[in-house]
Amino acid sequence: MAIALLNTRDHCADWADALRRLAPEMDIRVWPDVGDKAEITHAIVCNPELGALKQLPNLKAMHSLWAGIDHITRDPEAPMAVPLIRMVDHSLSQGMLDYVTGYVYRYHLEAPRFEALQRTGTWEQTVPPLVEERHVGIMGLGVLGAEIGKQLAGLGFRVSGWARTRKQIEGIRAYAGMEELESFLSGCEILALLLPNTAETTDILNAETLAMLPKGAAIINAGRGTLINDEALIAALESGAISEATLDVFKTEPLPSDHPYWTHPKVRITPHVAAETRISSASEVVIKNIRFLEEGGSLSNIEGVVDTSVGY
Ligand code: NDP
Ligand code: OXD
Repeated sequence: MAIALLNTRDHCADWADALRRLAPEMDIRVWPDVGDKAEITHAIVCNPELGALKQLPNLKAMHSLWAGIDHITRDPEAPMAVPLIRMVDHSLSQGMLDYVTGYVYRYHLEAPRFEALQRTGTWEQTVPPLVEERHVGIMGLGVLGAEIGKQLAGLGFRVSGWARTRKQIEGIRAYAGMEELESFLSGCEILALLLPNTAETTDILNAETLAMLPKGAAIINAGRGTLINDEALIAALESGAISEATLDVFKTEPLPSDHPYWTHPKVRITPHVAAETRISSASEVVIKNIRFLEEGGSLSNIEGVVDTSVGY
């Protein structure tokens, strides 16, 4: 057994060091210097070179360093019949929890309104509602969305969530499928997007669905840039239908310097940092999964195995 690290993005040398420290018994090779490609049985992957994975004929599993898998599926030749395990890691979940909760509070406390009042030197004592009067919606109730929904409900917010399949999560009013999208969106004063990038979720927030939100709703997109039709969002911000958007992810990253989001007064930008895969904890996840599979463990007992039939 040998392991290949194919990582063009995230601190490749640090990853190699961490993995080798954790598993000195494993033969870990860094792409493209992987020797005999037929010896590679596991690929640890972050934004691999196009066409690289298909050159590894004996893969038992691919391990994504990210929660999303679009950095792998963007390669039309990626061997998607090989089991793919995406990153499920405490530090990733905690980072996302902090990010979404922080920006939910920005909108709950109506910070954009007070900032605008300050710019005009206006003393206007309109007090925001309490958490129990504030309705937050989470699009995507997977590993990240469910955790965040539970935390927000625990803080007292009125939380709804929407997913492909119906969920039962304490404190969260659950909606499922396209047929319930309008009922879900119509109640969301603050909407957080935590969906993956798939054919079905592309442009899921568009002119029609943005119009389903209550007037003045705020949007937080920490899922993927593909979820939002940018022209429709800008039009909704300009008409006041949407009050503000905080965007961490974009159709093209880095966000091109001439993109209208950069200078839009109602858009807050963070550069895809909502939740970072931390090497210290995530390397342990990867090594644990490889050891488990090599000892004969079943894929069905591993968290984050991707269902390629649904694309996430
Ligand atoms: P999961 O796969 O655990 O959850 C995905 C959720 O989306 C599930 O609830 C799923 O529904 C729902 N979903 C998928 N397709 C549809 C659809 N067509 N209609 C309705 N619901 C749908 O992923 P994670 O929670 O771990 O991560 C979510 C995404 O967050 C990642 O794919 C990635 O894009 C993004 N991300 C962004 C980061 C950042 O730094 N900005 C960091 C980490 C992740 P169901 O439960 O029914 O299957
Ligand atoms: C991820 C990401 O998917 O960082 O993990 O976006």
